[in-house]
Amino acid sequence: MLRKLIAGNWKMNTDRAGAVKLARAIADGAAKYSTVDLLVCPPFVNLVPVGEVVKGTKVALGAQNMYHEASGAFTGETSAAMLLDAGCSYVILGHSERRHILKETDADINKKTSAALAAGLIPIVCVGELLAEREAGQTTAVIRHQFEGSLAGVSAEQIEQTVIAYEPVWAIGTGKVATPQQAAEVHADLRKLLVDRYNSGSAEKVRILYGGSVKASNAGELLAQPNIDGALVGGASLNAEDFLGIAATGAAL
Ligand code: PGA
Repeated sequence: MLRKLIAGNWKMNTDRAGAVKLARAIADGAAKYSTVDLLVCPPFVNLVPVGEVVKGTKVALGAQNMYHEASGAFTGETSAAMLLDAGCSYVILGHSERRHILKETDADINKKTSAALAAGLIPIVCVGELLAEREAGQTTAVIRHQFEGSLAGVSAEQIEQTVIAYEPVWAIGTGKVATPQQAAEVHADLRKLLVDRYNSGSAEKVRILYGGSVKASNAGELLAQPNIDGALVGGASLNAEDFLGIAATGAAL
């Protein structure tokens, strides 16, 4: 079984002081959970102060987005090298809020994924269906399409350095969590896509996270499912106690 990864996506929340305080509380509490990997993804402007807090602890640092170009005239954008320089080891790519609000396409996400991998950052590539797509019976097709588009050209060696997150859009920030069975079905589909595209050895090394209204109270059932190798947590990652509660669940499995 893969070691669970519990990742906190702070989204556009926290000021600098709040981010530092939250990171400190998570880093302090995390020390006892040696059997789980922890990650926090603060907003860009808080990466450096949070990085200083978590440096040398078991909590890794990640960003919520990046641009695929290395440098130059791309106003407002941030490169993989800049994220590495700020202390990041992970970057979330293709989150549904970026797909649907910022209109990122699979092609955009694919360029970012390739650039992140080339630079040595671990991408967390997000996929997930809308409620209307689920109700129309299109979940499997949507996930396959996003998987193929976002991960085009990624080699077997690179996929082992990649994390995939399944986040049904209808479960994000809504309090409507997918049932463990619904989540497990899509995770099994994703594992099969990995086996078919690569090989079982590589496929088994890829962590597939579930995201969407994960809390300490529902994490146990979700994380116990086959092929659910961790959680991408939004709302509950903004409270150290809640986030550590999920970490404790992951560590106990
Ligand atoms: P949520 O967000 O836990 O608040 O539903 C998850 C995410 O968007 O990554």
